[in-house]
Formats: sequence, structure tokens, C-alpha cells
Amino acid sequence: MEKNLDRDDMRELITGAVQSDAFRRATFAGATRGTSCEWVRVVVRPIDLRGQRHFQFAYQGATKAVTKNFLDGEVEEPIDELIGYGFAGVHITTGAEEIDIRTSRKGLVHVGRHKVKEPVETPEAEAHNRVKDVPLPEGKADVLLEIMGIATPDGRVRPTMRAKFTQINEFLKQLRHVLDDAKLHDLGRDVSILDCGCGSSYLTLAAHHYLNDVLNIPSRILGVDVNEEVIRKSAERADRLGADNLFFECRRIGTVDVQADIVFALHACDTATDDAIAQAVRSEARLLLSVPCCHHDLNKVISAGGPSEVLRPLLRHGIMLQRTADLVTDAFRALALRIMGYRTDVVEFVATEHTPRNLMIRAVRVRELAKPQAAEISEYIELKRFWRVTPYIEKVLGEPFQQLVKATAL
Ligand SMILES: C[S@@+](CC[C@H](N)C(=O)[O-])C[C@H]1O[C@@H](n2cnc3c(N)ncnc32)[C@H](O)[C@@H]1O
Repeated sequence: MEKNLDRDDMRELITGAVQSDAFRRATFAGATRGTSCEWVRVVVRPIDLRGQRHFQFAYQGATKAVTKNFLDGEVEEPIDELIGYGFAGVHITTGAEEIDIRTSRKGLVHVGRHKVKEPVETPEAEAHNRVKDVPLPEGKADVLLEIMGIATPDGRVRPTMRAKFTQINEFLKQLRHVLDDAKLHDLGRDVSILDCGCGSSYLTLAAHHYLNDVLNIPSRILGVDVNEEVIRKSAERADRLGADNLFFECRRIGTVDVQADIVFALHACDTATDDAIAQAVRSEARLLLSVPCCHHDLNKVISAGGPSEVLRPLLRHGIMLQRTADLVTDAFRALALRIMGYRTDVVEFVATEHTPRNLMIRAVRVRELAKPQAAEISEYIELKRFWRVTPYIEKVLGEPFQQLVKATAL
């Protein structure tokens, strides 16, 4: 159905749709007619905060982004303000219909309404109905999986994308598992996430969707990568998804100045994993999820002649030497995190048939640095003595870490 509206009808239509139980999302974007407005795009969606329905307004400007949450009864004023900006396009999605409102240069308001083929559930009902063990289940239309090229529009996983699909779900399970532990369920503000070495951003987009749209935990994610091309593609995908609070920057890990609550370092190559760990420690992130890969640092230093004759049979063969060096590297990383105040465990990320890069370091911040654990520092010193190496993680954690080790070694 399509028709022209005057301004008052338009206000009534938008406010009514936003306040309805079936409301899912409204996007205000495009040129602003006759007003100056610092925002390029504003996305409104319902969220649940401390058991109460709120509306989250995510304002995206050319150089800054702001998020504000309003209670159900407070929403009319900010909506009125948005309408006053005169955005050329307003798109509203509810469980029953898509509403598209366009304002022409001459100020004519044109509205198109289309019923959705199958009524869409509210996010709460959807979250409730999803199979509990699988964050993004198969067989159900999911715009994220479709845009990422993983599933067909009717929710069937493409055979060539099966491994990626499994990896995404396993990653989201790990994330869900530690959210409570890291006390990230109810911060009273957006959870800030830094994804180090985001690559093509499959896991970044999945985490953003899962936290914001399924678990209703308002979260903003910054993905960084040194590769310009993957950053461009990631930003394009985020745009197609209409995802707000999702940013990408072409940067080196360790050069970003953000106070992240969560740091991801998923398959960040070689010592980029250490740089990400150091960034998490520096910003006192509550949670780090890291899947290391492409270890080279200690592979170059540990040799068959190695630390002890007893280990010669283990280190004689190249592949075993390499796997041992990988494990030693990750043992140093996990231990360094414990020393720096993180409860750390190392778990299988995805079964080996899906990917050989299947070891995940999970670290939750539990302790102030002022209370280091002497036993763990001693373990660290002994491990270094045995392997006769100084791992890169020690160098990149810098003074605070080195001082702790030095003080115990004396
Ligand atoms: C194997 S991909 C992983 C992508 C994604 N995290 C995933 O798990 O699917 C590794 C990415 O890390 C990026 N990378 C490696 N070293 C980096 C560094 N020092 N700073 C930023 N990005 C880095 C690479 O450009 C690459 O895109």
C-alpha cells in the first residue's frame, strides 16, 4: 500500500509503530530537509535493560557516535526531535510490516507499507524460541547468515560454508559461557568490544548480532585489521546489515586507544596475538577470547638440541618440534595472563575436523594487579629457565610485567 501523508500523520505513524509491541527497528537516514543535523543516521530499537523495556537510540555522525537509552514512557520526545530533523528516509520494521517513509525535496511525504510474508517474532520471543544450545540455529531465515553468504534465504547452510557456520556457533557459545563470569550482562551502558585482526569479520558480525539482537546486551564493536581491503569489505557488510554500533578501522593491533570491556584476538597471526593480549591487559578488559595461530616466535628459538636430552625424541621431528613450540608459546601466554590478574583457562574451540586452529585462551579479569600471585610468577620463571627463552609476550607486556618477574626472581 502506498500513499502521501502530511507531517502530523507521519508523526502519528512513526510514534505508533515505535511504541507498538511488534516494533523491531527504525532507521532515520538520508539528507535532512531544511535543517542542520550532526547525525548521518539514527537507529532506534527496543532493548531490555534490567527487565524493563527501553528504546535504544544509536546516533551516528561523521566523526562521532552516541547511544542513548530511553524508557517506554520517555520515547516520544526523542522521536519528535528525529522527525524534526527531516531525514529524507525513515524505515521501520515491525513483526507484521515494513514501513518506508520518503520525504521529497519539495517536502512531500510518501509512505509505502508492505506486510511481511511470515510475521516476525519480537526479539524477546525469538530469543526464547531459539534452540538453547545453538546461538544461530540452522533452518531458520537469518539475515546475518544470508548476507555473510553462509546460508540461503530460507536458512539452509551452504555446504562450502559448513565449517565457518560451525566455527561461528562454537565461538558464540564460548562467548555466552563467560559473559556471566565477566559480569557483562548488565553494565548499565554499552559493552565495548575490540576485535583485533578482525579479517573478513564473520565472527565480529556474528558477535554483534548475537549480543545486540539475540541476548539484548547493547554492545559496540570496533574491528581493526592492517589489511585495508578486509576493512572495506567488513564496513560494506555492516552497512548492508544496517548494523549500528559497529565500526572498522585499518590499524595495527596495539595502536588503538579504546577502553574495551572485551577483547577478541581470533586467529590473529603470530605475535599479533601477544599484542592483543597486551592491549587487553592495558585497558583492564574484563574478558579476553583468543584463538592463536601461525606461531613463529619460539619456533625459531627452540631446537632439537633444546633444553634437555630427554626431550630429543620429541623435538627431533620438525612437525613435533613445531607443535611443541606452539604449545610452549601458548603456555607462556596463559601464565602471563594469570600473573596479570586474569582467571585463565585453555579450551578446545572447535573440533579438529573443522579447523586445526582449535585452541582457545579464555581469560576473565578477577584481580587487581597490586595482588600478584607469587606461585604463578615462580612457575613462569622456571618455565623460562627450562626452555631458555624469553617469549614475546614478556616483551610486549612491558615494565609492569617485567617488574613483577624481576622482583620474584631476586
Ligand atoms: C586469519 S585472519 C583472522 C580473521 C578473523 N579474526 C577470523 O578469525 O575469522 C588474521 C587477520 O589478522 C590480521 N592481522 C595480522 N597481524 C595484524 C596486526 N599486527 N595488526 C592488525 N591486524 C593484523 C590480518 O591482516 C588478518 O586479516
